[in-house]
Amino acid sequence: MKRVICDGHGDVSVLRLESFEAEPLAPGWARIKVAYAGINRPDILQRQGAYPAPPGASPVLGLEVSGWIEEIASDTLTSFQPGQAVCALTNGGGYAKHVDVPLGQILPVSGALTLKQAAGLPESMFTVFSNLIERGRMQPGDTLLVHGGSGGIGSTAIQMAKSYGCRVFTTASTDKCDFCYTLGADVVIDYLRDDFVRVCKEATNGRGVDLILDVVGGDYIQRNIQCAANNGRIINIAYMAGSRADIDFMRVMLKRLTLTGSTLRSESSQYKQQLRDGVERVFWQHVVSGKICPSIFQVYNMMDIEAVQNAHTCMDQGKHTGKLLLKVSPEVS
Ligand SMILES: NC(=O)c1ccc[n+]([C@@H]2O[C@H](COP(=O)([O-])OP(=O)(O)OC[C@H]3O[C@@H](n4cnc5c(N)ncnc54)[C@H](OP(=O)(O)O)[C@@H]3O)[C@@H](O)[C@H]2O)c1
Repeated sequence: MKRVICDGHGDVSVLRLESFEAEPLAPGWARIKVAYAGINRPDILQRQGAYPAPPGASPVLGLEVSGWIEEIASDTLTSFQPGQAVCALTNGGGYAKHVDVPLGQILPVSGALTLKQAAGLPESMFTVFSNLIERGRMQPGDTLLVHGGSGGIGSTAIQMAKSYGCRVFTTASTDKCDFCYTLGADVVIDYLRDDFVRVCKEATNGRGVDLILDVVGGDYIQRNIQCAANNGRIINIAYMAGSRADIDFMRVMLKRLTLTGSTLRSESSQYKQQLRDGVERVFWQHVVSGKICPSIFQVYNMMDIEAVQNAHTCMDQGKHTGKLLLKVSPEVS
C-alpha cells in the first residue's frame, strides 16, 4: 500500500511516496480505505517542521479523509458496517491508501453528500464546533466576524454560523470577496482596502460583534479587541501574521471580553468524540441536505508525487479558495 511521507522538513521536494504494511487494529478503531484526503494548512506547517505530530499520533500527513470502512477491530460495539461510506478526522496518516481511525472520529456519508465533498469537512467542522460552539458559546442571532473567510476553516465557519442563525461578517482579499458572498456571508470586508473595525462598527450601529474567529493574529489582535461588542468572545486558532502584539488591555476589562484559543490536534480522543457527536447532532442535517457543502477548489492525484507537490505549492502560495483534496482511490471519479 502507498502513502505520502515527509522525508525531512522543508519545501515540497521532501514529499515522497512510500510503501507500507498495515498493522493490527487497536480496540475501538476502524480501518478506512481512503477515497479522498483533505489538505489543510497544518499539513504545510508540519512539512515545514513548524507543527510536529503530537506524541502517539501518526507522523504521516493527512488530518481528514473520506472512504469506506474496511475493517473494524474485533470486540468493538459500533453501528458502522464494513463497506459503509464515511468521513473521518484522523490522528494523522490520511495521505494513504488506508488509514486507521478511532471510531469516535467517524461520521456517515449519506444524502446529498458525496465522498469528494465529505473529505473536506471533518478537520474544519470539528475545529469550528470546538471554537465557536464550545469555547465561543455562539447563539442564534449573534453577530460573528470570521477572518480569512475564503480559506478551509473560514469557508466552513461561514456556512456553519449561517445555518445556526447568525449574522456573519468576514474578511478576505480583494479577489476572494465574491466567493465569500456565495458561501452566504452577510458582509464581506476586503481587508486590503477597508478597515474591518470601522465596517463592523458601522454595520452594528457602533455595538461591535459578539464573536470573532481569527486565524491571522499580528495587529488583528488589538483591532479585534476594538471590534468586539460588550461580553464579546475572541478566539484565535492560528497566528498567520504572528503571535506577538503590542496590546492595550483596557477594553478587555471595560467590555468584559473573553480572549481564548485552542488547537485541535493535541486534544484527547474523548474530546474529539465529543466534537464528533456535537457536529452530528447540530450540523449534520445541514450537511446531508447540502446546505453546508465544502467548496472544492482542486483535486490532485495522490499516486503522482508531482501532483501532491503541486497541491502543497498551491496552498503555500494561498491561491485557493475553499478546500484542496487528494484523490486516493481509482474507484472514485
Ligand atoms: N487551532 C486549530 O485547531 C486549527 C485547526 C485547523 C487549522 N488551523 C489553522 O488555521 C489557519 C487556517 O487554516 P486553513 O486550512 O483554513 O488555511 P487556508 O485555507 O490557507 O486559509 C487561510 C486564510 O487566511 C486568509 N488570510 C491571510 N491573511 C489574512 C489577513 N491579513 N486578513 C484576513 N484573512 C487573511 C487567506 O485569505 P486571503 O488569500 O484572502 O488572504 C485564507 O483564506 C492555519 O494557520 C491553520 O494552521 C488551526
